[in-house]
Amino acid sequence: MQFSIRDSRRDDFEQLWRIDQRCFPPEISYSRLELAVYMRRSGSFTLVAEAAANNGNPRSSAHPASVEEPILGFIVAQAQRRGTGHIITIDVIDRARRSGVGSELLTAAEERLRTAGCRNVHLETAVDNVPALAFYKRHGYNLEKTTPRYYSNGVDAFMLKKDLLPPPPAS
Ligand SMILES: CC(C)(COP(=O)(O)OP(=O)(O)OC[C@H]1O[C@@H](n2cnc3c(N)ncnc32)[C@H](O)[C@@H]1OP(=O)(O)O)[C@@H](O)C(=O)NCCC(=O)NCCS
Repeated sequence: MQFSIRDSRRDDFEQLWRIDQRCFPPEISYSRLELAVYMRRSGSFTLVAEAAANNGNPRSSAHPASVEEPILGFIVAQAQRRGTGHIITIDVIDRARRSGVGSELLTAAEERLRTAGCRNVHLETAVDNVPALAFYKRHGYNLEKTTPRYYSNGVDAFMLKKDLLPPPPAS
């Protein structure tokens, strides 16, 4: 699957919110207002994974669905004070999963946080979100603590953390 990562634009919002509705159960997904507030907080940024256009090549094998739904996933993150980054949410649509979209989004967000001076990054995820836990483990996140009944449906959250190593010195 071919895609590229870019900053979100104002007119992406409705599609991002709909993706979030599909990615999480109703008790965990954000209202429009919540998502808008998280995206606009000081230090926040949103990156989008967009399916590659076929560049007008009629022999291209671009999936027809990618024309109607070009956004495959997105990530909202925030560079907070004291050198800490926070992953607010990462959402990849069903048909694009296990194709590296989530990894590219997370890696790009970590890079952006590092550039903003963050030395570590943390996030919360539901203790029963098995795919997300496997995904974050693969990306080097470690369990920091468990917060009981973090979500409104009563499910506990794991807080996961990762140190962001500084980039290697230029040679
Ligand atoms: C978690 C999520 C973002 C992963 O996105 P993705 O694009 O499928 O992730 P990738 O393709 O980059 O996966 C990278 C690695 O993570 C692990 N992984 C991802 N999904 C997995 C799953 N369902 N089961 C087991 N391991 C998984 C694997 O090690 C995978 O590598 P592999 O495919 O070579 O085995 C996606 O499943 C999603 O949007 N889920 C719904 C929303 C959510 O739960 N977000 C996270 C909580 S904030």
